[in-house]
Amino acid sequence: MQEERSEKKIGPFNFQSNFEWKEFPQEEFEWFVKEVEKRFGLNLSSYKPQRVKRRTELLLRKYNVDYREYMNMLIKDKKYLDEFMDKMTINVTEFFRNPEKWWELRDEIIPLISENSLRMKFWSAGCSSGEEPYSLAILVHELNLSYKTRILATDIDIGVLKRAQEGVYEERAFVSTPKEYLEKYFEKLPDGRYRIKDSVKKIVEFKRHDLLKDPFEKNFDLIVCRNVVIYFEPEAKNELYRKFAESLKPGGFLFVGNTERIFNYKELGFEIYKPFIYRKVE
Ligand SMILES: C[S@@+](CC[C@H](N)C(=O)[O-])C[C@H]1O[C@@H](n2cnc3c(N)ncnc32)[C@H](O)[C@@H]1O
Repeated sequence: MQEERSEKKIGPFNFQSNFEWKEFPQEEFEWFVKEVEKRFGLNLSSYKPQRVKRRTELLLRKYNVDYREYMNMLIKDKKYLDEFMDKMTINVTEFFRNPEKWWELRDEIIPLISENSLRMKFWSAGCSSGEEPYSLAILVHELNLSYKTRILATDIDIGVLKRAQEGVYEERAFVSTPKEYLEKYFEKLPDGRYRIKDSVKKIVEFKRHDLLKDPFEKNFDLIVCRNVVIYFEPEAKNELYRKFAESLKPGGFLFVGNTERIFNYKELGFEIYKPFIYRKVE
């Protein structure tokens, strides 16, 4: 965020800026976090506080208001609340993010699950605009297993879920997608974007769900939760992994992001099956 500060002295030159870098009292931030939880049900205290503070204060500076004035804006106008939610929940995603891991799912893990289950139940938790659950659905389709598979896809952010349901994507979402899959599972629209085909879409069910407070379904064969817990405090992260373990069938898999490690996996009843893929011990 350094670039947003007004530098009085740069190199050999001096110049004055009218821009004033405003600091906000810590107590006001703490008040705001509690108020957001109370009024809008967003469990901000489970997210990394420095990040929440930094991102909120960017908005305060944008509107030149303090925490209390900003709270009034959030209460009165949904437009500001939507913008705030958007800033708190980073939605960056793409199809087949870290592709080599997806090919492990396709070639090894999904076939193994299928061998042992009449019905397969998968969950993409923190699914953003749908690229992740649709990637799963494409692999299931490739393996001719759609008839026995249901994919639950959830996110806290209603805005991204709406986009997921529309299923229309810009070309940049496909940097890791094999051309063959793009041609087979998407229809190119006149404006250059791509729409996912119904044959893939129909096995995915989108739902709003807050991983920090809503109840979890049970009996999953595979849970994919990637690049979500990076924003959570360690305690919230541990609790989430504990609940995932409870929600998996014995022998079920948990697929996490490529920077995420579960250090206490044994305690939670997991074994490492492959890097970033854990298996619930039977
Ligand atoms: C960076 S995206 C990751 C998307 C996808 N899993 C991937 O790896 O490409 C993080 C997603 O987590 C969602 N999220 C953040 N907090 C959440 C919560 N408490 N419950 C459910 N989803 C949450 C955000 O809305 C966002 O869509």
